[in-house]
Parts: sequence; structure tokens; C-alpha cells
Amino acid sequence: MSKGALALLIHGGTDNWAPERWKTRFKSELSDRAVVSVVEDRFDPRTVQYAAVWKPGAGELAAFPELKVIFNLGAGVDAVLSDPKLPRVPLVRVSDEDLTSRMTEYVVMHTLMHHRQQSYLDACQQRREWAPRMQWPAKAVRVGILGMGVLGQHAAHALRALGFQVAGWSRTAKMVDGIDSYAGPDGLPAFLARTDILICLLPLTPQTRGLLSRGLFAQLARDGVLGGPVVINAGRGGLQVETDILACLNDGTLTAVTLDVFEREPLDADSRLWRHPAVKISPHNAADTDPDAIAAYVASQIRDFEAGRPLRNAVDPDRGY
Ligand code: NAP
Ligand code: GLV
Repeated sequence: MSKGALALLIHGGTDNWAPERWKTRFKSELSDRAVVSVVEDRFDPRTVQYAAVWKPGAGELAAFPELKVIFNLGAGVDAVLSDPKLPRVPLVRVSDEDLTSRMTEYVVMHTLMHHRQQSYLDACQQRREWAPRMQWPAKAVRVGILGMGVLGQHAAHALRALGFQVAGWSRTAKMVDGIDSYAGPDGLPAFLARTDILICLLPLTPQTRGLLSRGLFAQLARDGVLGGPVVINAGRGGLQVETDILACLNDGTLTAVTLDVFEREPLDADSRLWRHPAVKISPHNAADTDPDAIAAYVASQIRDFEAGRPLRNAVDPDRGY
């Protein structure tokens, strides 16, 4: 009997997200079965048992009556879970050393950039001005990480090793050496009150949507060495309220922000965020997925699943992450 096919629901983009390149990768990993692309191939949907997806269209997955597992090709599953017709089969996300290290690079780079006053130094260079400012040590800066999952904990350790005072906030309390833990809505005010640089690595769920708004920014510490709070969001754009971010930068509630994710992506060319001097922007590439590693990861999970072994990194649909 032929093995169940893998359907690729990847709708485009360049580089990493080019559908034909994903097909080539998956074909070399899964040479014993059909690999089909919804944008390139005609096929019988009843042959499909597995789907590998990135931002699938609403209702698209419901076309496969024999579907057994959905593999999301990234860490965040908000786009998949927003499908009202999502089949009730296991949904697996990416959790991978390579992606995790890339996110930590991003978080450390932007934390250091704000801490070491790099925007000020860049402006001095533009003016050919030799004007060093007081530079405080990392141990004087309190970093707070929203989301202490795989990414949050890895970044927390790296920042702690650099000397920052690090705390994390999550749904459930954590015991992480050298990192203060705050949990749940009751723990949020105290966590914010001790935070100079706020890093968001939360998933987007109904509970976290819009969390990064004026009400939260106003609770951040204002007595720190940076002169005012800094926010770094590499979670999802739906976590932030961009009009509040701009207003809070303009009235001094926030000092600076780094944003990798946006309410609408790509960010509109006429968004005021692009040109704001206190905003650093990256195009949702804080932690790209290594496509070869991910194809190998999905293939090994399919083999494990067919051998009766448990799936790794399955999402809890009720929790939303
Ligand atoms: P994860 O391991 O599932 O961790 C999620 C963390 O968020 C957990 O600590 C969880 O708390 C916490 N959390 C969830 N809902 C919460 C709530 N309502 N209140 C308080 N804490 C809550 O996820 P991950 O692998 O670290 O990834 C996190 C997110 O990063 C992804 O969902 C994705 O959106 C984003 N991401 C972005 C990029 C990029 O390039 N920008 C790349 C990869 C991932 P518990 O520990 O108590 O469950
Ligand atoms: C990227 O944003 C991911 O969720 O992997």
C-alpha cells in the first residue's frame, strides 16, 4: 500500500518561502512517498495524510479528509489556529536549536544596542562628533522577558551571562537559575515595575492580543539608568498596538522600541514607524527557519508517528500555543 502523501501549503514569497524549493527539500527527505504542492500540482486530496504549512488560507486544510497531522513550518501557530474550519488533528510546531539561537542573537543584539546607546553614537558619527556619554554596566539594567518558553528561556540565559538583571513572565511560574519568575495576570504589575528593557517573546493568542499597549507601557520602570523604558517585540505583531507605541514614544512613556513584527505585514510604506528616530525595524526575520533542518525535522516526525512514537512539540489548541 502506498504511503500517505505530504501536501505543502506554502503560498509564496522569495528565498526561504519559495514553494518549489520546499518541495525539492521534502522530496529528498521523503523519497518513499508523494510530496505535492497546492500551488503547483493537481492531486487527489484523499491521498494526503500530512500537511506542511505556512500561513495556510482559511478552510484550505479542510479539503483533506484523510489528514492525520499538520506541521506548521514555524514556531508560532496563530495563523493556523485562526482557521475556523481547522481539522481536529494534531498540530505540530517548530522548536529547533537553530531557530532558537537565531532569536537569542536578535534579542541580545537589540538589547545591547539600546544598552550601549548605539543610536546616539550613530548620530554622533553622522555629525563627526566625538562625544562619549556615561556608559553604565549591564548589571545596572533590568531586562524583563514576556514569555518564558523555549525562546524566552534561551534568551534569558544569554542576557544573564552578559550581566543583566533578568526576570521572566509566563502563564505558569518557572524555576530558572538566576532569573526571577513572575506568572499570570497577578504577577504582571510587579514584573513591569522592575523592568527597563521589555522583550516580548509571547505567542499570539486571544489572551495576549493587544497586550503591548499604553496601559502596559505606563507600568514599566521609570527610575532606571536608560532614562525611560525600551520595548523589543519579536513575538507577533498582533501583540502590539502600533498607535499606542507611536503615541508613547512621542510623549516619553517609552524611550525606544525595536519591532520585528507588525499588526499588518509587510509594514505599510506609509507607516510612521519607518521614520521615527526611536524605532528600529526588521522585516519579521528575527529568527528565520533553516529550511533544510525543518524539512528533516518534519520527515523524522512522520517516521516516528508512523512507528507509533509520540509527536514532539504538538500544540495545545485550547491554550493556543
Ligand atoms: P513557547 O515555548 O510555546 O513559549 C511561550 C511562552 O509564552 C510560555 O512561557 C508561556 O507560558 C507564555 N505564555 C503564553 N500565553 C501566556 C499568557 N496568556 N500569559 C503569560 N504567559 C503566556 O513558544 P516559543 O517557542 O518560545 O515561541 C514564542 C513565540 O515567538 C512564537 O509563538 C512566535 O509567535 C514567536 N516567534 C517569532 C519569530 C520571529 O522571527 N519573529 C520566530 C519564532 C517565533 P507557560 O510557560 O506558562 O506555558
Ligand atoms: C516565525 O515567526 C515563527 O513563528 O517561526
